[in-house]
Amino acid sequence: MGKWSREYLVEQALEARERAYAPYSGYKVGAALLGRSGKIYTGCNVENAVYPLCICAERTAVVKAVSEGEQKFVAIAVATENGGSPCGACRQVLREFGKKTVVVIADGLGNYRETTVGELLPDSFSARDLEE
Ligand code: THU
Repeated sequence: MGKWSREYLVEQALEARERAYAPYSGYKVGAALLGRSGKIYTGCNVENAVYPLCICAERTAVVKAVSEGEQKFVAIAVATENGGSPCGACRQVLREFGKKTVVVIADGLGNYRETTVGELLPDSFSARDLEE
């Protein structure tokens, strides 16, 4: 995967955000996960009347990608109204597939900032910790 467009990935996350199912919190989130293959997997948050069953946009995208056969990721864009940062659970799930994945955090207008999974989750637990 060579050069890729932050702006395009943010656009995809903003579009995915429109599909969010968030009747309880009203907080809509969209994600767009770029695989090394070049394919983009989108996700949105999907809430539930049983509140703890809500799933975040980022994890929706990761689960879609892995279930489609892709496990190496270049970047993920996450879009919310106010430019909120990915939750701890999603950071850990992203970390499973690499610390270098770029995280582009966007607001509803498409303004964004950039970080990485490793920066968002330093000193993390990973598969290596399970080795003998
Ligand atoms: N949410 C996400 O989709 N991603 C995050 O990283 C933060 C939180 C969702 C979960 C819930 O549906 C709503 O935002 C409010 O927490």
